[in-house]
Amino acid sequence: MTHAHIAQPWVQAWNQWIAEHLLTLQNVPAIPSQFGPIAGNDENTWKEIRNYYPKPIGITNFNSGAVSSSPIWVEQAMVQYYSRVNQAPSYFLWKVMEQGRELVRKGIAQLAGVSEEEIAFTRNTTEALNTLIFGIPLQKSEEVIIAKQDYSKAVIGWRQRALREGISLKEISLDLPQQTDEEIIQTYLKAITPQTKVVQVTQVINWNGQILPYKKLVNEIKAQHPQVWVLLDGAHGFALLDTDLSEIPCDFYVAPLHKWLHGPITSGMMMIRKSLISKIWPYASSAQPMSDAIQKFEEVSLVLTPYILAIGHALAFHWSLGRENKENRLRHLRQQLEASLTSIPLIWRTPQEEARKCGIILFEVHGAAIDTIESHMLHQHQIHVGTVRWETFQGIRLTPNIYTAPEDITRLSLALRGYFANVKGAVVAGV
Ligand SMILES: Cc1ncc(COP(=O)(O)O)c(C=O)c1O
Repeated sequence: MTHAHIAQPWVQAWNQWIAEHLLTLQNVPAIPSQFGPIAGNDENTWKEIRNYYPKPIGITNFNSGAVSSSPIWVEQAMVQYYSRVNQAPSYFLWKVMEQGRELVRKGIAQLAGVSEEEIAFTRNTTEALNTLIFGIPLQKSEEVIIAKQDYSKAVIGWRQRALREGISLKEISLDLPQQTDEEIIQTYLKAITPQTKVVQVTQVINWNGQILPYKKLVNEIKAQHPQVWVLLDGAHGFALLDTDLSEIPCDFYVAPLHKWLHGPITSGMMMIRKSLISKIWPYASSAQPMSDAIQKFEEVSLVLTPYILAIGHALAFHWSLGRENKENRLRHLRQQLEASLTSIPLIWRTPQEEARKCGIILFEVHGAAIDTIESHMLHQHQIHVGTVRWETFQGIRLTPNIYTAPEDITRLSLALRGYFANVKGAVVAGV
């Protein structure tokens, strides 16, 4: 079954629920019904889609990898529903809006390819990661394997647990982007020992945008070591790359909903396979901490429930637009961006092969401090870029978004070219 077939009944149920609870958004158009396939370079259609997103005043954003802008329905859900809550807070939070949570959970579960009994909402991916890092039961003799190139807060979290409880933590180092996919897989497989209980895998390395061979890697680990629990960090994969968890046998999956789903800032999710839920400790105390109900992970007292409903609107728009269209557009813009920078002496830290990257690129420059470039771009050109400094990576990270205009890429490239025209000693060392 395609996502379109799955999505339609959910979208109908969602629209009906919103209408029944008098939560129809005011002064915004209805979410368009299903777009067909849109080519990455179909500028007319993408211009139309750009109108659904806010127009940044005074800044051009090339750091969408950190957090994405949301479309108007999501923004307006946060604004309008907050306003409604503010009229009679506990009534609107608990008696009205809270009732939508299970429907939104169902939609996210369908998008991920799992049961709604396996999805918990979190404030962000870091919270989901920490829930697992500190909630997975581990004996001192048991080992956890992570990569130094995983997300910083995940690495730091595991180090803290090792320091506090004396569990064994093995940190492998991936040679990125040089290592082939097969070499990456072998690096993980060779590290696993009979003591290994958990292996953490990152779907897309956030530092340089490299897509790891996540499907094959997780399948190989589970086929060779079924007793090992695999935690897949899907921060840059969910709602962008093909991520059907019915085909990827990870035990745990974490993802933000504020990145490529374009959900409210901030929001996240955690997937735990049903058979494991009772074994994992919740982050905040629960009356039944060893229950197998996924809701035990959401017992964090008062939450701003409009954000759950805003996730529902993000999901409805995501399904209307289509994941493949998002991926195509992002790939096209990233290709345009790379092409516009070829005359600049940059050291690329992102793989060359199209299959191993999507929307993020990272480059380094000999003879120029990354903070100086970042500050120049911001203060001279009002262009916001990302900077990276972690383990084997450092450099400028650029991430367009589906609503980035081609003119913005031209502006960015002219600004960078102007900057590098004045840098002495820069060396070209493309990968
Ligand atoms: C790979 C990876 N994991 C986790 C996170 C944390 O995401 P969040 O901002 O949702 O906490 C990020 C953030 O960029 C990331 O790139």
